[in-house]
Amino acid sequence: MKILAIESSCDETAVAVVEDGRRVLSNVVVSQVDEHKLYGGVVPEIASRRHAEAITGVTDEALIRAGLTLDDIDGVGVTYAPGLIGALLVGVNFAKGLAFSADKLLIPVHHLRSHIAANYITHSELKPPFLCLVVSGGHSHIVAVDDYTKMRIIGRTRDDAAGEVFDKVARTLGMSYPGGINLDKAAENGDPLAYQMPHPKVADGPYDFSFSGLKTAAINIIHNASQKGQQVVTEDLCASFRKAVVDCLTENLFKAAEEFGYKTIAAAGGVSANRLLRRRLEEECSARGYKLYVPELSLCGDNGAMVGSQAYYEYINGKTAGADLNACATMSIEIG
Ligand code: KG4
Ligand code: ZN
Repeated sequence: MKILAIESSCDETAVAVVEDGRRVLSNVVVSQVDEHKLYGGVVPEIASRRHAEAITGVTDEALIRAGLTLDDIDGVGVTYAPGLIGALLVGVNFAKGLAFSADKLLIPVHHLRSHIAANYITHSELKPPFLCLVVSGGHSHIVAVDDYTKMRIIGRTRDDAAGEVFDKVARTLGMSYPGGINLDKAAENGDPLAYQMPHPKVADGPYDFSFSGLKTAAINIIHNASQKGQQVVTEDLCASFRKAVVDCLTENLFKAAEEFGYKTIAAAGGVSANRLLRRRLEEECSARGYKLYVPELSLCGDNGAMVGSQAYYEYINGKTAGADLNACATMSIEIG
């Protein structure tokens, strides 16, 4: 089954063709990041406009690169939640038009479920059940993936997402948007013990995260130094902050794995590209004899291939949509 899959939930216009959930025939991603950089973050109205301008061309390109025409496609998958509502609507309306004019199936896909599915593309042997750390710009969850379309949230952030705090601390250090990757690079040359960082815990949620205090602690160090006319050592601050975030993420993840008996661990979402997180997951999994799956770097961020993969599993588990499909800015991964 060949699915043409569309992703427009944030600042990437992405279209892919994926066969049977696992084989990527094409994967085209057009990023708007250079424009949003000028404003220090994603401007929703600009994102919607750029999606509307790009989506037809990106779809054509995905078909050309796959060596296919619309006739060869069985269904259209589309990210319908969660994300920026105006951005999602561009993808959803385009997918509806395409599916109904060409008489194809329409398959709605939850954005975070598709991030998890990036692992099915990278690792052909991976099947649920497994425990997945889902860390993106807007979400930080520990998810029990019981089956391809059955998920339970075991832990979640009570405030900011991991990607969000990476970006905000990076911005305070003067790094350009999206700062997470730049902070990660700088941290590679820093001393992770140079600055003391809190390791916030959530009293009534053993697997939940709280990153906003940690973010404020890092920003205060930067501001206090500048008020005294001093400068922080950027690499050291990045390394110390990154270590604290990764400590929190991995402590709760492995506590949950032990408690619930998971020996297969995965990671997903933009922050799963983080170098320290990947190293730490490898070390911890090998020390415990767990199997680890992380997406290849090119599939960690937003892309259409992961949507095409998850769309296939949504379809074989009975999910399709009609012309009344709508986009939703928020939706739990459990409902998906
Ligand atoms: O999953 P994603 O591409 O988009 C959302 O669904 O949000 O995640 C984007 C987030 C951004 O906050 C970005 O800074 C972060 O992932 N990110 C990273 C790294 N690469 C991307 N954060 C830390 N280290 C990285 N290497
Ligand atoms: Zn994403």
